[in-house]
Amino acid sequence: MKRRTFLIGAAASAAIAAGAAVPWLFPTLGRRRDDLAIPVATPRRAAVVWFSQTGHTGRVGRLIARRWQSQGLEVVAGDYRAFDATTMPGFDLVVLGSPVNYFEAPGHFRDWIRDLPPLAGVRAAAYVTFGGEGGNTFNAVAGLLEAAADRGALPVDLAVFGNMSTFAPTWSLGNEGRILKYRHLPDAGTWSAVRAFADRTLQRARTGTGIAVSREWNPRDLVRGAVSIAGTKVLTGGHGADAGTCIGCGTCVRGCPVGAIEAATRAVDGSRCVACLGCVNTCPAGAMRMQFLGKPVEGFGEFLRRHSIVIAEPPELGPSPT
Ligand SMILES: Cc1cc2nc3c(=O)[nH]c(=O)nc-3n(C[C@H](O)[C@H](O)[C@H](O)COP(=O)(O)O)c2cc1C
Ligand code: SF4
Ligand code: SF4
Repeated sequence: MKRRTFLIGAAASAAIAAGAAVPWLFPTLGRRRDDLAIPVATPRRAAVVWFSQTGHTGRVGRLIARRWQSQGLEVVAGDYRAFDATTMPGFDLVVLGSPVNYFEAPGHFRDWIRDLPPLAGVRAAAYVTFGGEGGNTFNAVAGLLEAAADRGALPVDLAVFGNMSTFAPTWSLGNEGRILKYRHLPDAGTWSAVRAFADRTLQRARTGTGIAVSREWNPRDLVRGAVSIAGTKVLTGGHGADAGTCIGCGTCVRGCPVGAIEAATRAVDGSRCVACLGCVNTCPAGAMRMQFLGKPVEGFGEFLRRHSIVIAEPPELGPSPT
């Protein structure tokens, strides 16, 4: 990647860390979301498949699954890293969920969708969760639907759900206020919106109401994905497990979406790492080290504990597993 691209990405990444809540600098134009007639259907088997590092996206997915189960559907739900891709064409209805990472749905999850067996005739919906005031959320969810449509699926609906950001450099650089402003999310309003999305998706599939989605014009697309990832990597250092603190649980190895962490030593292959921060955010011992602009990055779990924050669970799912 050229030096200028690096610098733009680094600036974008530093801006995210600083809060990046400057919507007036990033106007959005030309969103398109039109209804499209598709054959009516009676979905009986549904799949809810997500990518989630710190739990927000998975929680939404489990609630959708529970909602559909209570309406008589047979539902299989889980993180894509443990999902049997070969079973996907056997579902009548699928919903795909992802966090927004670097202004898009992560490339490794979109690649997984694009590598699925043909999904001809499968109704598909998508959602993203995002942090704070969000950034390019519509294009991110549109990207998931595009990937499903590329496999032949028929898009029926989309949704976005906001919560606390998990971009750890933000609070690690001292900008805690921008994160804590959203500490009340997700809340009862979020769960209502998720249930409504599940109901609407099912209804649209049943009535043959598809959706034609095209991305909106958004300047954040100029720095999405690889550009901002490269920028973040320029600004980070010291990424790897601290042998003295590591308890060898393997959470980071299993959770790394690109297989960048060596199983035996927990050494990080920087050339493969996509700076998703999952290993830092989910290490139960605080042993996965990273520096951002020379400052130690504190993981999401520790940040929550330090502020005595417990993420709410919808009543249907019972008490928080953590
Ligand atoms: C590496 C990284 C990049 C992120 N980039 C964005 C972003 O560009 N826009 C946004 O709205 N939120 C961004 N976020 C916040 C997450 O999308 C949000 O916290 C999400 O709900 C996390 O989902 P999860 O808990 O399922 O992993 C980012 C978080 C991380 C860790
Ligand atoms: S998650 Fe943390 S404690 Fe577990 S193996 Fe990785 S670095 Fe070690
Ligand atoms: S090594 Fe990189 S890609 Fe893998 S979990 Fe850690 S931050 Fe994410």
